[in-house]
Amino acid sequence: MSHASPQAAVDLGDLLAPGREVEAHLQALLERRPLPQNLRQAALYALLGPGKRMRPVLLIRCCEAMGGRLEQALPAAAAIEMIHCFSLVHDDLPAMDDDDLRRGRPTLHRHTNEAMAILTGDLLNTFAFEVLAESYGTTAPDRVGPLVRELSVATCEMIAGQVMDTLPDFGPETPPLERLQRIHRSKTGALIRAACRMGVICAGGLEDEARRAQLEGLSDYGQTIGLMFQVVDDLLDVTSTADAMGKAVGKDQDRGKLTYPGLLGVERSRRQVAELRGRAHESLGRFGTEADPLRRLADYLAVRER
Ligand code: IPE
Ligand code: IPE
Ligand code: MG
Ligand code: MG
Ligand code: MG
Repeated sequence: MSHASPQAAVDLGDLLAPGREVEAHLQALLERRPLPQNLRQAALYALLGPGKRMRPVLLIRCCEAMGGRLEQALPAAAAIEMIHCFSLVHDDLPAMDDDDLRRGRPTLHRHTNEAMAILTGDLLNTFAFEVLAESYGTTAPDRVGPLVRELSVATCEMIAGQVMDTLPDFGPETPPLERLQRIHRSKTGALIRAACRMGVICAGGLEDEARRAQLEGLSDYGQTIGLMFQVVDDLLDVTSTADAMGKAVGKDQDRGKLTYPGLLGVERSRRQVAELRGRAHESLGRFGTEADPLRRLADYLAVRER
């Protein structure tokens, strides 16, 4: 297997198709909930811009790899996309990365104003948990606690990662590569790992020991592609264009961010990606063809161009 194949070599087929179902579900959830109209519009703007829906798709594909169905995973998939979009809205604020472009459109605080962007992030961060409680409370009440726990722990870790990225507080004894890995595993990896674990929880059957071992395999997979995802994001900030990415590029260095290409250079960062891609495949060793979509997702995320 080549770890350096171009994106065209990864046959996506309908791999990302569940993203469309997630978008429809997000829209329905937001339209159903009583909210001031301007807040609803801001939330829909933050949620439904042309994103890749990677976290929800991963969640759904992990649920399916465990024998579950899309419908079982849909509310959890919507909830994790809400947390992700909250993180993007706040990440772009002037006090954070101060960005004007996101998903090919003005960032939410540019489209509306800062107060609305802060409050929309707050809403999405809270509504995600309401969706878990409401959606699974009647159909699968034993899954509410584990799902809330996974999403809450990962959200706290994402926030901690954003603090380490924005307001670093490392002692001088922490080597730069260790700082970098900690930031990336937290700010981006935690939510991606949680997507995988939540997909498994949605499929159920975790009283079975063999399935718990599979949960660990998918956790490792999520942790590995989570780190890889941010290494690729760092690389694209150096090598891509705003047109392709739908967000500004070349800003990490200007802002003095600790990044993979900044620390290791582009070539060594690319080799890191190839190594992580290989490790993601290894972590699926317990699975047969039912995990092929996850193998293809790992390949796609290694070579993605946006
Ligand atoms: C961007 O995430 C922020 C990072 C964690 C690197 P995505 O690249 O998944 O953004 P969208 O959802 O596709 O816009
Ligand atoms: C984002 O990292 C991590 C989040 C938790 C949103 P970046 O700041 O590198 O993400 P982009 O490049 O703005 O999407
Ligand atoms: Mg940032
Ligand atoms: Mg940013
Ligand atoms: Mg970035």
